[in-house]
Amino acid sequence: MISRPKGTYDVLPQEVKAWTKLESTIRKICQIYNYQEIRTPIFEAASVFHRDGNDTSDMVNKETYDFVDRSNREITLRPEGTAGVVRAFIENKLYAMNRINKLFYIGPMFRYERPQKGRTRQFSQFGVEVLGSNDPYVDAEVIALGTSLIKALGLKNVKVKVNSIGDKESRDQYRIACVEYFSAYKKELCEDCLNRLGKNPLRILDCKVDKDKEFFKNAPKIKSYLNEASKQHFNAVLQALEAMKIPYEVEDNLVRGLDYYAHTVFELEVDIPEFGAQNVIGGGGRYDSLVSDLDGPITPGVGMAFGMERLLLACAYGGKNLVVPNYLHIYFIVLGEEAKKAALAQMNVCRLGGLYCDMDYLNRGIKAQFKAADEHRAMFTCILGENELKEFKINIKNNETDEQETISLYEVYPYVLNKLNSKSACTSCKEKEVKKDE
Ligand code: HAM
Repeated sequence: MISRPKGTYDVLPQEVKAWTKLESTIRKICQIYNYQEIRTPIFEAASVFHRDGNDTSDMVNKETYDFVDRSNREITLRPEGTAGVVRAFIENKLYAMNRINKLFYIGPMFRYERPQKGRTRQFSQFGVEVLGSNDPYVDAEVIALGTSLIKALGLKNVKVKVNSIGDKESRDQYRIACVEYFSAYKKELCEDCLNRLGKNPLRILDCKVDKDKEFFKNAPKIKSYLNEASKQHFNAVLQALEAMKIPYEVEDNLVRGLDYYAHTVFELEVDIPEFGAQNVIGGGGRYDSLVSDLDGPITPGVGMAFGMERLLLACAYGGKNLVVPNYLHIYFIVLGEEAKKAALAQMNVCRLGGLYCDMDYLNRGIKAQFKAADEHRAMFTCILGENELKEFKINIKNNETDEQETISLYEVYPYVLNKLNSKSACTSCKEKEVKKDE
């Protein structure tokens, strides 16, 4: 038997409903905040992600799926959405429109990580990217959009953690302080941090291996190195969050795992014990040189991404029920070959009219067919035997009320339509229930 690759998963039909419901909730929120959807390729030229040799993030250094295609092009499966969106922004000259671009995307990403609960090698992200504005209120808007999604999904106990890693000048000052401080502990640093010390000491703060070591406690904090402009930017973000009544916590050590950030960084954390270390459901921040690093015009950006699987898992542990069961308007039950053919014809009429219908294609007995009607949550069951067929009649049963009638074979469609549209049928019918859930 061929198995799926390690770190991947199948979304089976009964689970797809939760995905589509999550996606439609996301689309609605993006519409409310006026973000436009963008779809970029799942694979890109490797240089979109491997931009320079100084990148210290695990994602870029250790986790990308890289390959050479049949024409010797170096290709990378996208590990995240931001860089591809920025590549598309530049290539399609979206900057030429001389306005702020508020974009969102939903799609699969790939990282060669050690799989565990909430962490897979193929996973999906919902992300937003705002390109073209320096305004700190945009940072706050992106966080607000994230918290709106959390609210819409009924998720409780989600913390918004924010920090500022300042502008380049502030980070340069901080870098000097970090190098000085951590150099004294070289022997205790893990191999990755030793490498980070030379390239991007700020990211030592994000180290999962070293962060609990004693010397970490007195490490310099970025907030002491923020220059006036950086402080102003961060304060404006916090004030905007307060104006929108969005609770947040400032987390001094939050630096995030990607190298492109500047100024605001943030994460959304759920408090669900089963999540363990994977309790960050989303995160993001501002990036001011990514567009120019990819050879575009200097353009500020800010964005965020959520793990779709983690959102779904969080919902399953205590959010909104996203799994709306399927239902049918009519299930056709037939006895005999002629009845089957006649029912098929009527079912097609109903389907062309937009009703959800099905019948048994396994030639099973009547009991099994009734059971199938139940399993499919059919609102009406049409029963057609050879006797009814002779008279061009059909029995129809309202499964809500158990009322049964014999009607003309050719009236199934208008009969059901009429019942669905009539108020009395709709007050108790499953259609109403489903509409309410959706
Ligand atoms: P990230 O923190 O690397 O940021 O990923 C965002 C979210 O994707 C995480 O919070 C997590 O929920 C989910 N995620 C990441 N890796 C995995 C995995 N292996 N399995 C399941 N879920 C995962 C970014 O990707 C940035 N591009 C966010 C951003 C957008 N920053 C600015 N704009």
